[in-house]
Amino acid sequence: MWPCWREKKEKEWGWAVDGDGKIEAVGLDSEIDAALQGCTFDHVIDASGQCVIPGLVDAHTHPVWEGDRVHEFAMKLAGATYMEVHAKGGGIHYTVDCVRRASLDQLYTSLDRRLTAMLTTGTTVVEAKSGYGLDLENETKMLRAIERAKREHAMTISSTYCGAHAIPKLVHFMRFGIDPDYIELISMEYHRKHGRGCNSRRGKCPDPALRELCATGELSIDNIDVFCEKGVFDTDASRRILSTGKDAGWKLNFHGDELFPMNSGELAGELGAHAVSHLENVSVAGIEAMATANTVAVLLPTTAYILRLQHPPARQMIERGVAVALGSDFNPNAYCMSMPLVMHLACVNLHLTMSEALAAATINAAASLGLSESHGSLEIGKNGDMVIINSARWEHLVYQLGCHNQLIKYVIKEGKIVH
Ligand code: NIG
Ligand code: FE
Repeated sequence: MWPCWREKKEKEWGWAVDGDGKIEAVGLDSEIDAALQGCTFDHVIDASGQCVIPGLVDAHTHPVWEGDRVHEFAMKLAGATYMEVHAKGGGIHYTVDCVRRASLDQLYTSLDRRLTAMLTTGTTVVEAKSGYGLDLENETKMLRAIERAKREHAMTISSTYCGAHAIPKLVHFMRFGIDPDYIELISMEYHRKHGRGCNSRRGKCPDPALRELCATGELSIDNIDVFCEKGVFDTDASRRILSTGKDAGWKLNFHGDELFPMNSGELAGELGAHAVSHLENVSVAGIEAMATANTVAVLLPTTAYILRLQHPPARQMIERGVAVALGSDFNPNAYCMSMPLVMHLACVNLHLTMSEALAAATINAAASLGLSESHGSLEIGKNGDMVIINSARWEHLVYQLGCHNQLIKYVIKEGKIVH
């Protein structure tokens, strides 16, 4: 045991973190002294009169991309819907064009900058998706950028393969709508047919080449995602893609019931998904299925706000016993990296209490990624990720709209001050 530092707070509660970055003791100063008798501390933070909360967990982001979409924001403000912009070749398609032109280094540089910005707002764990490549080469490029960040950046990252984020534009327009062969493309059968080394059984894996890279340790994919939406991937297609992802050992964590009811909640229950995001149009049966299957609902209040959508029925979910988590949904459509702002919107628009918003942005978000044993709360043995708030009440972080800069004194990641 080698405690490297200790912090104190009001009423002399404290946390001690050991040399491995794990929490060694939690409790009153006197209890910590008793538990860690004879230990020396490398660093002691006096947080008297301040608050300490667990590091925030952002359960849903698309942080790898080039080219912003500020021009589309203007179109949407003028009345265009998300799907109207998408159908005209904008939206995800626009970002795919930019990502395909970008080098891995370019993508990594902007990802690294964004992760650092997220850390400054208190986020210490983030889910990060691919999904702007839509072919093997470019999805792999995105996943390699995420992998490099996993190894080099202080942020803990849960990586998600989202090759089923949209139907690639060429296919989409050539076939005038949904391509009946699109699952084949996403399952990378397309590449197999074209002799690119994917020789696994038809439809068995969303991407045999990616699976191979995981086997050699070059990549580590944690989750698989699909945009289960009218005009994108319908429920049956989503089922096929998610099922093959499950075969690959990836956790199911997908976009569902956002713009139209798609029975995504029911699908999550049927497949035993870890999490479903959005859920603005989830059905009562879908909520029921998620509750039974312990699927976490990842709610994204920035997206509903920006697109002026109806809000997801958060209270109904909570009342039915579904664990509700929060994500920023950071992407070129919803340009928000701040979980404190997301928590604020969740309270005002989704009717969460501030305590529920804190649980949703910490332990429940960690659970949506299968990380609740190691992250999301201040408990002995868990990672020493925390945020010290320069106020006697942590609620100020939610109440003071957009003021995290003044309120966050330190962000601690595995026992080290990172901001
Ligand atoms: O979660 N809905 C699909 N995916 C993203 C948006 C991605 C984009 O528009 O670039 C979302 O909101
Ligand atoms: Fe998303």
